[in-house]
Amino acid sequence: MRMPVFRRTKRGLLVLTSLLLSSILFAACSEPASILDVAGPVADSERFMFYIIVIMATVVFVGVESALIYSIVRFRARPNTPNPRQLHGDMRLELLWTVIPSIFLLIILVFTIRGLVEVSPEAEPTVGTKYNVTAVAHQWWWEFYYDDYHISTADSLVVPTGATIHVNLFSNNVIHSFWVPNITGKTDVVPGHNNSRWFIADKAGTYIGICAEYCGTQHANMKFNVVAESNDAFQTWLSTQQNVAFNPTASKDQYSAEKGKSVFQNSCVSCHGIVGVNQNYSKSNPEPDPRKVCNGSSDAASDCLIGPNLTHFASRNLIAGGVLEHDPKGCADPASPDLYKTCTLAQWLKDPQGIKPGNDMSVSLSDADISNLVAYLETLK
Ligand code: CUA
Repeated sequence: MRMPVFRRTKRGLLVLTSLLLSSILFAACSEPASILDVAGPVADSERFMFYIIVIMATVVFVGVESALIYSIVRFRARPNTPNPRQLHGDMRLELLWTVIPSIFLLIILVFTIRGLVEVSPEAEPTVGTKYNVTAVAHQWWWEFYYDDYHISTADSLVVPTGATIHVNLFSNNVIHSFWVPNITGKTDVVPGHNNSRWFIADKAGTYIGICAEYCGTQHANMKFNVVAESNDAFQTWLSTQQNVAFNPTASKDQYSAEKGKSVFQNSCVSCHGIVGVNQNYSKSNPEPDPRKVCNGSSDAASDCLIGPNLTHFASRNLIAGGVLEHDPKGCADPASPDLYKTCTLAQWLKDPQGIKPGNDMSVSLSDADISNLVAYLETLK
């Protein structure tokens, strides 16, 4: 009677193993980021290292498994064969299986050191204009502060192609890790220890960035985009970002940007900043470096608000650390009865804790407030 139980367990294990293996496959499918499809020299160097190790490992695997299978078949026990010759140590064999693996490991070591030197801080080149950006890791979203321009944005790191980007990595909470698979490998973002990472994006495109160090319940929803564009497009973006927010004019519409602005002033200003509304940054009063003003134990300082700066919200393509994609078309009509179906921003404003449990946004807004806010935020290009 024991056999069926055993068989059932075995079948269960088989199903579990296949499910686990297929989940790896699906995980690979849903993520467009790849370390093999490189868009810059740092990722290129890392991909080269990956191939070296894969080739070495394949040679070892095929060699060892072939010898194993050959031995199993060639020297298998047959009826009436005498016991094989008994060996006690073989100097030649032992030398062989010590020296050959050492050579393989040595080759990998040489390439590893070469790779480490290529991507090290000392190897940071100056190609084109160098841009200094401070990436501030929050729980759980990324803020990007352009050091030389005193502007900050969230979820999108916009860069020109072919220029060196020097990223200062800052956290005042827990350890995070900055990773853009197509452009650069991971660098930890450690409180009290300012790491940095440089990269160059060779090809225009939008590349997904991921937090690669477990940092709390919403670690998986701490994504960002690196938007690499031509230098002209980048300069236009940069000068737009330096403007104060669009100021809506009076409107008789049921829902309007003007009404949305007052909803913002009543319900959002303790956590979010909009330059020209509740923040007065300008050329003569530039936005301060978050590394200097957000160094305390809380983010509550007036220059260091807990939520993303929304001055140019409408120019971004992610919402709330990438938990939702921002589709402005779906939000174009704030009076639409389908607003909560088509507009991710409205979904977010309606139920931030349902969409991203544990995040800092806990606000309850009426549907009218939400429609007005959608009308307002979508004008902030
Ligand atoms: Cu931040 Cu994981």
